[in-house]
Amino acid sequence: MNAPASHCPIGVFDSGVGGLTVVRALMERLPLESIVYFGDTARVPYGVKSVATIEQYAAQIVDFLLRRGVKMLIVACNTMAAVALKTIAARAGNIPVIDVIEAGARTAADGQGGRIGVIGTPTTINSNAYARRIHALAPGARVYSQACPLFVPLVEEGWLDHPVTRLTAQEYLRPVLAEDIDSLVLGCTHYPLLKPLLRDVAGEGVRLIDSALTAAELAAVRLQQAGLAATGAEPAACRYIVTDIPLRFQTIGERFLGRSLGEIERVDW
Ligand code: DGL
Repeated sequence: MNAPASHCPIGVFDSGVGGLTVVRALMERLPLESIVYFGDTARVPYGVKSVATIEQYAAQIVDFLLRRGVKMLIVACNTMAAVALKTIAARAGNIPVIDVIEAGARTAADGQGGRIGVIGTPTTINSNAYARRIHALAPGARVYSQACPLFVPLVEEGWLDHPVTRLTAQEYLRPVLAEDIDSLVLGCTHYPLLKPLLRDVAGEGVRLIDSALTAAELAAVRLQQAGLAATGAEPAACRYIVTDIPLRFQTIGERFLGRSLGEIERVDW
């Protein structure tokens, strides 16, 4: 494998379109960087699949992005980061790997308080990955986790401020809010879109940790440390690669990205 170079793109990947929240944060934080985004839209959702299946899919995606010559990999999918990180890192070799769980856990652990709520897909929450990473950094922290399986379809439906979503959020958050948390980690690609609603439900006193923003911040630090930050000598470009282009892909994708999607490439495995 060739050594990564600063002019190469960053590879960002997710189970579907949700990881575009990370691309959006990267574009804002690191506008000089080129990005290759891979969304496995033919096989989404991953959040309810088994560990073995997710590991196999993640390995396939990493191999694909490495063949595209990326200089860094960002695991934008919390579910993949929760259960397939070892597999991903082993295949990545000398290419640095960043993941949303590490980024979110770091921010949660350096907060003033130590009562942290974590919400995510059932696979992410059952893996206990956030709690393990937060405890490794802040052994005294108390972590209260809650799976919120209905949030992904509600966000994809565009019901970002809908009474059904509000009621669902109140129901899901009740047990973690009862623990008097001071921070809430949004441990899924889709949840940053629910931030205004979650802020209302959780109250101003609870700090919301957006793992897309924290991942972009961590990427900026790691690129500098590795001497891999783009210099701006070439214009930044973003390529979108997916395994299927379902109906409404454009609408949903642009909602996540916050701007129009460029050209989309479809690959057949
Ligand atoms: N991207 C997934 C995550 O962040 C959510 C969608 C899915 O279940 O695949 O956990």
